Amino acid sequence: MRVCLLGATGTIGRATRASLVQHGHEVVCLVRPRPGIEEGFRQVDMSSPASIVHDGFRGERFDAVISCMASRTGVPRDAWAIDHQAHVDVLSAARDAGVGQFVLLSAICVQKPLLAFQHAKLAFERTLIESGMTWSIVRPTAYFKSLSGQFERVRQGKPYLMFGTGELTACKPVSDRDLAGYLADCLQDPAKQNRVLPIGGPGEAITPRRQGEELFALLGRKPRFRRVPVALLDAIIAGLGVASRLRPTLAEKAELARIGRYYATESMLVLDPRTGRYDADATPSTGTETLFDYYRALAYGETVAERGDHAVF
Ligand SMILES: NC(=O)c1ccc[n+]([C@@H]2O[C@H](COP(=O)([O-])OP(=O)(O)OC[C@H]3O[C@@H](n4cnc5c(N)ncnc54)[C@H](OP(=O)(O)O)[C@@H]3O)[C@@H](O)[C@H]2O)c1
Repeated sequence: MRVCLLGATGTIGRATRASLVQHGHEVVCLVRPRPGIEEGFRQVDMSSPASIVHDGFRGERFDAVISCMASRTGVPRDAWAIDHQAHVDVLSAARDAGVGQFVLLSAICVQKPLLAFQHAKLAFERTLIESGMTWSIVRPTAYFKSLSGQFERVRQGKPYLMFGTGELTACKPVSDRDLAGYLADCLQDPAKQNRVLPIGGPGEAITPRRQGEELFALLGRKPRFRRVPVALLDAIIAGLGVASRLRPTLAEKAELARIGRYYATESMLVLDPRTGRYDADATPSTGTETLFDYYRALAYGETVAERGDHAVF
């Protein structure tokens, strides 16, 4: 198939490109302009519907769009511009270009939307479902990069930080490659089409405490945990909320703190709407790679952890 890929420079986008190529698809990547871009990538201004049409689709035939594009920060303005509006404009251009299928990488946390970026994602999910195209909405649990932020701390002999007892939340982590394979499968597996697809990785759900224990064991260190009260985040959110009335630039910091609180207190598992509880058994799994395999690869220096703004997610 001829596939238009968005977000090809991001973590899951890179893996998805590799998976699509491996499956024998022809992949055209639309990326934002920046120096040192890979040859063959098309530079598109996602804030401009005209650029999406003329620089992106260029009047050519595509069978499908796969989007792994997302705001890098999750702050409201960027989230509504990218996770919502840019996607609406891409969908419209794709429909005009005769594209029949759209695969969207979303996030499991939109099932309990409390944050701006979750509302922006949900708004586009609704537009896609109503578009008349064949669609797949993939809502993954947690990525390895987002669960590896404390690797260096622990290696340096510092304690592992966790909210409460470290058992307030759990998730079924999914590897970049396994998720990318799942996204590619959406193109050809009718069971993955016209459906919202929550998806995690293999094995049991894992708590932050369990992640810490595994890191200490792998690095041959005596476990040391430091508990951080959730109330500390509440105090920061309240303080920034008040301060942002005087300095509006602080509103974005307040949203980032709310995002932090969300991940400190909400599990990345399917939420049972009847009970309001997260349900590990109801969370589907894909792939073979585990978070602890990844920790092992980090410990042996076979891979390096990603850093940057997106570490928030
Ligand atoms: N981290 C987790 O644990 C987790 C769990 C579940 C779901 N998710 C969701 O998974 C999705 C993708 O995650 P990821 O980690 O692969 O994302 P990522 O590494 O942050 O990549 C985001 C991609 O979107 C592109 N992008 C952002 N703003 C853009 C703009 N203005 N114009 C054009 N392209 C733009 C980025 O391009 P540049 O390289 O140019 O910035 C990059 O290619 C997100 O929706 C996230 O919410 C994450």
